[in-house]
Amino acid sequence: MEKCSVDKKFKNLDKIQLHISGVEYTVNTADVSPETTLNSYLREKSNLTGTKRMCVEGGCGTCIVAVEENVNGKRNVFAVNSCLVSILSCHGWKIHTVEGIGGPVQGFHPVQTTLARGNGTQCGFCSPGMVMNMFALMEGDGKQLSESTVENSFGGVLCRCTGYRPIVHSFRSLVRKEQGVIKDIEDMKPCKIDGECRTDCKQKCKQESYYHAFQQSKWVKVHNLNDLLDILISAEDASYQLVGGNTARGVYYITNPPQLYVDITSVNELTTFYVDARSLILGANITLNKTTEIFKNVANEYQNFQYLRDMAQHIEKVATVPVRNIGTIAGNLMIKHKHNEFPSDIFLIMETFKATLSIVDTSDEEILCSPQDFLRLNMSKKVIKHIILKPIDGTHQWKTYKIMPRAQNAHADVNAGFLFKLDGSQAKVESANIIFGGISKIFIHAGKTEELLKGKTLFDNKTLKQAFQSLDAEIQPTWEPPEATPTYRKNLAIALFYKFILNKCPRELLTNSRLSSGGTMLQRPLSVATQEFGTNPQNYPLSEPVPKVEAVAQTSGQAEYCADLPNLPKQTFGAFVTAAAVANSHIDQIDASEALDLPGVQALFTAEDIPGNNTFQPKMMGTLPVQEELFCTGRVKYYYQPIGLIVADSQETALKAAEMVKIKYTAPTEAPFLNVKQVVEANAKNRMKHNTNFVPRKKGNDIKKIIKGDYYMSWQYHFHMEVQCCQVVPTEDGLDIYPASQWMDLAQLAAAEALAIPTQTINVKVRRLGGGFGAKISRSAMLSTAASLAAYKLRRPVKIWLPFITNMNVMGKRYPLLCRYEVAVNAQGVIQYLKAGTLEGMGSIESIFEQISYEMNLDPIQVRLANTDKVKHAKIMDYWKDIQTWADIPARQQAIKSFNAQNRWKKRGMSLIPMAWTLEFSANFSVLVSIVHGDGGIMVSHGGIEMGQGINTKVCN
Ligand SMILES: Cc1cc2nc3c(=O)[nH]c(=O)nc-3n(C[C@H](O)[C@H](O)[C@H](O)COP(=O)(O)OP(=O)(O)OC[C@H]3O[C@@H](n4cnc5c(N)ncnc54)[C@H](O)[C@@H]3O)c2cc1C
Ligand code: FES
Ligand code: FES
Repeated sequence: MEKCSVDKKFKNLDKIQLHISGVEYTVNTADVSPETTLNSYLREKSNLTGTKRMCVEGGCGTCIVAVEENVNGKRNVFAVNSCLVSILSCHGWKIHTVEGIGGPVQGFHPVQTTLARGNGTQCGFCSPGMVMNMFALMEGDGKQLSESTVENSFGGVLCRCTGYRPIVHSFRSLVRKEQGVIKDIEDMKPCKIDGECRTDCKQKCKQESYYHAFQQSKWVKVHNLNDLLDILISAEDASYQLVGGNTARGVYYITNPPQLYVDITSVNELTTFYVDARSLILGANITLNKTTEIFKNVANEYQNFQYLRDMAQHIEKVATVPVRNIGTIAGNLMIKHKHNEFPSDIFLIMETFKATLSIVDTSDEEILCSPQDFLRLNMSKKVIKHIILKPIDGTHQWKTYKIMPRAQNAHADVNAGFLFKLDGSQAKVESANIIFGGISKIFIHAGKTEELLKGKTLFDNKTLKQAFQSLDAEIQPTWEPPEATPTYRKNLAIALFYKFILNKCPRELLTNSRLSSGGTMLQRPLSVATQEFGTNPQNYPLSEPVPKVEAVAQTSGQAEYCADLPNLPKQTFGAFVTAAAVANSHIDQIDASEALDLPGVQALFTAEDIPGNNTFQPKMMGTLPVQEELFCTGRVKYYYQPIGLIVADSQETALKAAEMVKIKYTAPTEAPFLNVKQVVEANAKNRMKHNTNFVPRKKGNDIKKIIKGDYYMSWQYHFHMEVQCCQVVPTEDGLDIYPASQWMDLAQLAAAEALAIPTQTINVKVRRLGGGFGAKISRSAMLSTAASLAAYKLRRPVKIWLPFITNMNVMGKRYPLLCRYEVAVNAQGVIQYLKAGTLEGMGSIESIFEQISYEMNLDPIQVRLANTDKVKHAKIMDYWKDIQTWADIPARQQAIKSFNAQNRWKKRGMSLIPMAWTLEFSANFSVLVSIVHGDGGIMVSHGGIEMGQGINTKVCN
């Protein structure tokens, strides 16, 4: 990288130093790159595999570690997603990992034991992230944690199996009941904007800047704005990235890494703030969580900054706690700048409350502009320096909203901000600011409606009608799947305006008090739940409730999963080459020459290299209806179908090489079927593998109504937290396979059939799974067979770990379902006969019950009970009677009725779904019990797969 002459100005550092769990590590920059994440460093270089990895985009939280810093003489600990942090950002950091805070030798940490004892782990894959998130909250900067803070701080740590009740319950037991305290503004020691430094920040701005050099790039750490601007000048045409929290890559992947990285996290001008009664000037790279703290404090201090409290509440809905701990305001605004369609919450609130951005260019010229005008600026070689916020007095009304698919950790479907200046008692509009996000790339203000409302009385039916019409005309959402439909987003935007009006409208002006509930947000109280274990002591110890045997191993990061297996000598890594072509396309040519030339690449294996059958669903299993191809041979069956496996010396090289394989396709002559409905409508028999019809054996005569309907459930990603992975090691007579699989003999038979080798030469070992949810029954054999082929051919260990997106793309997902039914019922909703297509999935029959209740105007619970076999399911009838009393169902139903009568826009309901399960036993597993001669110790090896259900604990029982 010739053009950037940082080497002349700054010193070169070829090492960085950090502490991980009390041990000092020196990292030679020759061994890493700016793209090496802290997570990779922990897992691959330091062998600290307690910290997990799944999405690598800041969304799942399995990778959370805690960082300790000293600010103004006070210890502060905060959680970060190690998958987003570059190892180069960690120079001087003190990091705590799950192994470091407690373990079998030093003793377990209370967070680890509390989660384990509270039954807060099933597969345990999320547990290290849960533990470290809680550890950081507890060790945080002196805040007194409240139960509600704890409950609201786990949106960034997903658990797929346990259910959050035991997790939240366990962690809430560790904190006090009272609310947290807010710091005094003076404690936060704002810097003077004129440059006078008030912080005990160790004079970071005076520290010397330095750089690390790499083959393709440079990483520079700057401590003041002058150095930053100098670097941007000297960079000339080199591509560059300013590194704040480095979290934006979790939202939009970086496909072309830049030539120059500039770490700006210690630039004083960008990370301090100044406030007085006339303005709040925020350094643009203050983190989102620090910003909320500052906003709350300033709102407490200054009357005309009350709106900052609303801004803070809105920011608390952005991303997750660990992302907000390092993600910054400027970083967020720059995402919006680059991807105008991004429904940035930060942009929305800044534009709503008329923030001014101060931007500097390399000649140190300052540009002051609105967020909207900033989007039109060419930001090359410019830095957002400050965000300036002004007081807003009591003549204004405001509110912002974010509507998202989940309550936490999701981007907005639509977000909205309203700021109105009103005149006197008539509430005449002097000025209106109506902003929506999530509409289209170009839509920001509902400008025509803002104009229309000027001078009008706001809380007036005629005005409202005109406003709705105007919004309806000017809001034209574009559709970019997977976003919600344009109609939904448009209606949502208009409804939010209505919500704002209902919220602000004086109660006496509301024509009907039933309307007011539409103006308030749903408040989620602290959750309450209990779980009882009603087991029969006569069956003890077999059914005795005991803590799971490996629970504390899971919560302390000791439990080993497939991807944690250490790399072996001559280890290689596999990456799938997938079809980037619609189904029914034809592969004409595969050109892997460029990929194979990449240093470190060993080979590409395709269908032609398979000595046996090209399938991972072997015929020899006997029960599999279709022998699905391992690698595509000609006709593409589905977009992203694997075509081959690239094997290289590192995971990064394999992934890079897989992208470099060039494939030519002929476009399909027949259109692909995109869902089950299309297959059924076209009566495409060759696509129907299993088509059952549920034909009634007898029909009742008491028919009041015949109801027909369709129940359709789309396909569903399994969302196991541990992505598919496998390690295969060649042995003297065959292969050892370590798959993340629920079906070990499938892995064995599939590899044997594909390689045409005897089954007895293949050993399979599974320690445990990080969840499966159906995807690790038959799908995992895709990986184990591919890795077996490569290991067999190369005589080297081969590991495949599917990146999250590939995992979603190649796995096919859970089956979609279409159930077409006709059901006849009597006046009580008792089914007289039911004709239906496949009734697989409880969803279909529950949906039929719901439709019967609706069509017959009956209570849905009564319809279910009326159709329960009272002899076969006598217990369900007993439970129903019991629950009437202890849950006081009649009183609840009455309360719901009266609430619903009083509220037009908010409704309450209650759901009760009786269920009975039969225990199906479909497999026998061999068990080996060994008694050790020395002390009579008993060892049990069994063929069941531990995936969270506690099979090992049952064996111990
Ligand atoms: C899981 C997840 C969920 C999220 N959810 C939401 C959400 O619900 N709503 C929402 O609005 N956002 C959301 N975000 C976005 C999040 O707010 C941003 O990722 C974060 O604020 C970016 O800040 P950063 O410091 O990490 O930026 P970085 O990644 O460090 O930088 C991003 C870009 O900004 C540029 N940049 C940084 N500072 C400056 C500066 N001072 N001047 C000029 N350019 C600069 C960099 O060059 C880079 O191109 C989410 C992110 C993640 C990972
Ligand atoms: S959040 Fe880091 S791996 Fe998912
Ligand atoms: S225990 Fe949380 S993902 Fe399995």
